Amino acid sequence: MTTAAQPLSALRILCRTTAAVALLALTPAAATMAQVMPTQDSAPLAPRAGDPAWARADALVRQMTLDEKISYLHGLFPPMTKTVAADMIPSAGYVPGVPRLKIPTLRQSDASLGVANQVEQRKGDVATALPSGLALASTFEPDLAYRGGAMIGAEARAKTFNVLLAGGVNLTRDPWAGRNFEYLGEDPLLAGEMAGAQIRGVQSNNIVSTIKHLALNAQETGRHVMDAQIDEADLRESDLLAFQIAIEKSHPASVMCAYNKVNGDWACQNDHLLNRVLKRDWNYPGWVMSDWGAVHSTTKAALAGLDQQSGQELDTQIFFGDDLKAAVAKGEVSQARVDDMVRRILHGVITSGLMDNPISTIAQPIDYAAHAQVAQAVAERGSVLLKNDGNLLPLARTARKIVLIGAHADVGVISGGGSSQVRSVGGAPVEIPLNGGEAASFVRVTWHASSPLEAIRAAAPNAQVIYVDGKDPVAAAAAARDADVAIVFAWHWQTEAQDAPSIALPENQDALIEAVSAANKNAIVVLETGGPVLMPWLDRVGAVLQAWYPGQRGGQAIARLLFGEVNPSGRLSMTFPKTAEQAPRASAPGFAEQAAIDDARRAGQKAGPIKGFPVTYVEGAAVGYRWYAQQKLQPLYPFGYGLSYTRFDYANLKVEDGDGLKVSFDVTNTGKVAGADTPQLYVTAGARRPMLRLAGFQKVDLAPGETRRVTLEVEPRLLADYNVAKPGWTIAAGTYPLYVGRHAGDTALTGKAQLRSWSRKP
Ligand code: BGC
Repeated sequence: MTTAAQPLSALRILCRTTAAVALLALTPAAATMAQVMPTQDSAPLAPRAGDPAWARADALVRQMTLDEKISYLHGLFPPMTKTVAADMIPSAGYVPGVPRLKIPTLRQSDASLGVANQVEQRKGDVATALPSGLALASTFEPDLAYRGGAMIGAEARAKTFNVLLAGGVNLTRDPWAGRNFEYLGEDPLLAGEMAGAQIRGVQSNNIVSTIKHLALNAQETGRHVMDAQIDEADLRESDLLAFQIAIEKSHPASVMCAYNKVNGDWACQNDHLLNRVLKRDWNYPGWVMSDWGAVHSTTKAALAGLDQQSGQELDTQIFFGDDLKAAVAKGEVSQARVDDMVRRILHGVITSGLMDNPISTIAQPIDYAAHAQVAQAVAERGSVLLKNDGNLLPLARTARKIVLIGAHADVGVISGGGSSQVRSVGGAPVEIPLNGGEAASFVRVTWHASSPLEAIRAAAPNAQVIYVDGKDPVAAAAAARDADVAIVFAWHWQTEAQDAPSIALPENQDALIEAVSAANKNAIVVLETGGPVLMPWLDRVGAVLQAWYPGQRGGQAIARLLFGEVNPSGRLSMTFPKTAEQAPRASAPGFAEQAAIDDARRAGQKAGPIKGFPVTYVEGAAVGYRWYAQQKLQPLYPFGYGLSYTRFDYANLKVEDGDGLKVSFDVTNTGKVAGADTPQLYVTAGARRPMLRLAGFQKVDLAPGETRRVTLEVEPRLLADYNVAKPGWTIAAGTYPLYVGRHAGDTALTGKAQLRSWSRKP
């Protein structure tokens, strides 16, 4: 390795350095405090009897010099680093290995929705772009999450990456939150199951996956400085439960800690989160890597359980390099702890299979056509039919004239912004740079080349299918007037690093839909949104299809759903509120302050970073539908909701209770076409505060007239209280009301469970 100036693709620099600037802005006394605050040395876990990977990692650690160990504990950010390695390519991260011991170099790429390539930092390097995480979660199909993860992992390996920054499982607490689209919805069971399956898929390629971001990185505004305040039991019963389920299901080699503070301490130096919850309570054997620009100290972070500093150029300094070595020399961090850090990384490298199946140094061919099928399947199974008055859908192939309006539906479908951005196989027909804001340095508003217009033309070859851009509602209405159907494609773009200013459709799209629906009674809206949006025009349109960000086969998937080649089967993975005020917070705390800073910068004035602020999660564990149930609020569309071109009936509920809870029932497709349904089991439980909880679900494909018996066995923690004093999980003996339904508000079959008392360690 030599040191030389590296060409800066550097587009992420501005945004990613916010944390650094914020730390500098602390008073010197405060900064010093943060550095030296004593925390208990995270005693290396007791040797894990019977864990061969642990013994193997330990044997390697014994052969490493201190410098080799330290070098494995901090990673480079290729777009910014001055350190040059011959085999480094632009991506999220690079940690040189130890060739003499065959310890692999860690080559990290973002991977939430595909192998990422933000702002095309690797020119011409495309990958398969899956639909958004919320689309995936709305499939309610862990198998599809597995296939998606396996696909991403295969492409990553072929592109010579071996550590994937995947597995985003933060619960979507707020409809306006910038990264909702990357995550897996608002419920711990659904998100945990889906993340677990996705991570297993990634790691089936003998490479590492993370799970991220531990914890409560629920908003983007002020993400480096905001302090997420939440009651311990509430956190265990919500976000942490999603992590816990996913980790148990998939054994991710690494956990990425978050940018924000949690109850006073930054997540990446949070002794409670990292040492107590993750490593002791959950006995997690892998390593904690920081988010990029999330490290604030050396000794404190090392003692609090952080094992590796990622993307070091984005922090104020290299904490886990010479500084850590000095801390060892001074006795502030024990040699045993350094060994523990390295051993944990190697444990993940070994258990993931990477150690024994090194990646090739040369890029391998990829079967993009086969992988596109996975993207299309997720879009088809995750899109949610919200409204279908008078069976307006599926569209008749006999239609003579179809007008498509808006959202660049002539060329493609929109995607979400940020580190998850994939440069998809067909390229980006529309790319719009941002004018300021926290995301501007590493994000462009990007469309995938998957044209709904072309796909609809192919589906209805005898119809006249035209496209108008929708900028002028009057012109759009005029074009729609004499058409058989008018389909408005509406978008709401969201991105990492920024929250949406509102959940209303931007740029006059509500007026556009009003105008079109006034001109044509067969108006259909296809929503390409990061999450829930408001629909003031809902009563005036005939049908609404929630297509999320549908990925690189979105155009084809939308056409097949509209024409009934595929029967819609997605179910909402997030509640859609009627008004912004129904949600626990109508807008992002800190949003106005951040907007003022952005405006000042746009005007050429100097403006410091946003100051730290607390966000108190008043809803606690009652995230999403649980909040609506508790507050007795009727949302626009509930969690779990979604229509089909057929109908499903439920019957013959049987509840087997006592020590555990097992619920079975019949599902029948009573309509005329085949379709898939996702019956859901909800239980109201909790001695602390009764709370509605999704306790089970299963997606079933049924032919017309077919009946299937579904049996759901309930994981007891889903019904339990987290008891901080004990500590652990408890279910009090008693009677618990339950129901099976089509969504969080549908009590199609009701029953009761008599449960005995139960408890378990954390
Ligand atoms: C994001 C992470 C991502 C990392 C590396 C951060 O800004 O929060 O999710 O993995 O960058 O690109």
